Amino acid sequence: MTNQPRPQADVPPAPELFTWEFATDPYPAYAWLREHAPVHRTELPSGVEAWLVTRYADAKEALADQRLSKNPAHHDEPAHARGKTGIPGERKAELMTHLLNIDPPDHTRLRRLVSKAFTPRRVAEFAPRVQELTDRLLDRFAGEGEADLIHDFAFPLPIYAICDLLGVPREDQDDFRDWAGMMIRHGGGPRGGVARSVKKMRGYLLELIHRKRAELPARPAPGEDLISGLIRASDHGEHLTENEAAAMAFILLFAGFETTVNLIGNGAYALLTHPEQRARLQRSLTEDGGDHSLLETGIEELLRYDGPVELATWRYATEPLRIGGQDIAPGDPVLVVLAAADRDPARFTDPDALDLSRRDNQHLGYGHGIHYCLGAPLARLEGRTALATLLTRLPDLRLAANPAELRWRGGLIMRGLRTLPVQFAPER
Ligand code: HEM
Repeated sequence: MTNQPRPQADVPPAPELFTWEFATDPYPAYAWLREHAPVHRTELPSGVEAWLVTRYADAKEALADQRLSKNPAHHDEPAHARGKTGIPGERKAELMTHLLNIDPPDHTRLRRLVSKAFTPRRVAEFAPRVQELTDRLLDRFAGEGEADLIHDFAFPLPIYAICDLLGVPREDQDDFRDWAGMMIRHGGGPRGGVARSVKKMRGYLLELIHRKRAELPARPAPGEDLISGLIRASDHGEHLTENEAAAMAFILLFAGFETTVNLIGNGAYALLTHPEQRARLQRSLTEDGGDHSLLETGIEELLRYDGPVELATWRYATEPLRIGGQDIAPGDPVLVVLAAADRDPARFTDPDALDLSRRDNQHLGYGHGIHYCLGAPLARLEGRTALATLLTRLPDLRLAANPAELRWRGGLIMRGLRTLPVQFAPER
């Protein structure tokens, strides 16, 4: 039983999904789905069937609908669901008990714990460190006249930032960068190396949690790291198992890494291919006395226009339900297509245009409901710092490749470029 569209004379043919052309520019296909098959059952490249929800109103409702569980045990094909949680190489039960895989009441308990440790104040205190990291990375290539913005800039920044926030010692951070690099490069590919990287990361995190627990001072010092904060929160009345703590650290790394790489990468690409918008932003940062309001609305617009998370992570119907008039059976997987919802003309004026000053912009780039992105304040801080510093220090930055030749990373959940070659006048 599907809602496969009936052929009609005046309806253009259904687009092919998950091809190379689709990866390069999925938006025309999403426009077709929104119009002709807004809740559409399809076979994914992995062979698993799932419903794609593409209209804004349906997407928002589905994200908040708790009859859609995050627990893969609810999938009608549990064998398929294992390892299909959006985390490459994640097959072992140990790392499965993280926020994006669980429902209330466990989700409520764990989210409360991590929210205590991951406060907006902690993120705000972190701003000078993000600026320092950004400048250090730029120093490495600003004199060269050319760079790959993904490899040299977007990729290293978030991993070092999250390692710092979690409290991973500096001398170990390059190991994390390598493990994360393996996950991002081979997310949908060879499993062996990815599984080994995940295992190493987990082993390291468990040991670090042990060590920090043993050395935890009685009172929190200013600027205490997040893992210590988590241990402290769990030692004060609320239970957090060691596996849960490791899974939490892991999901923070995982959820906060490739997403932010893509925010910086997709954002820089959108600016480079929209010269007028980019010039406006550049002027506001330099000539208008450093007015950052356009940067603030601009980051939100970059998230809406070509956001890092193309599809929200997996959800499974726990009972018969209807989305957008379509019946969904218990056990059916539902994928909410954030990228399609955020270009819905029923919600956004002129949705395919990039308008950095867009005000009415309640995009779904960070999700919605109880799983709304926990790291949004950190992501905004990193995105703002990275893009503003880039445009200010390298004012004549330009794309050094034909957009049609740029490769996008395959993979279901995330949307991001593999490389972003640029040229600029070398900084002296
Ligand atoms: C959840 C997007 C950065 C941590 C989510 C969700 C989205 C999202 C769409 C919800 C997924 C769903 O409902 O299926 C983004 C984007 C980011 C970003 C676009 C960057 C621009 C970060 C960062 C961190 C983070 C930097 C942390 C360091 C999390 C966590 C969750 C989450 C822990 C799960 C929350 C829960 O289930 O309660 N994110 N994220 N994210 N994000 Fe982010």
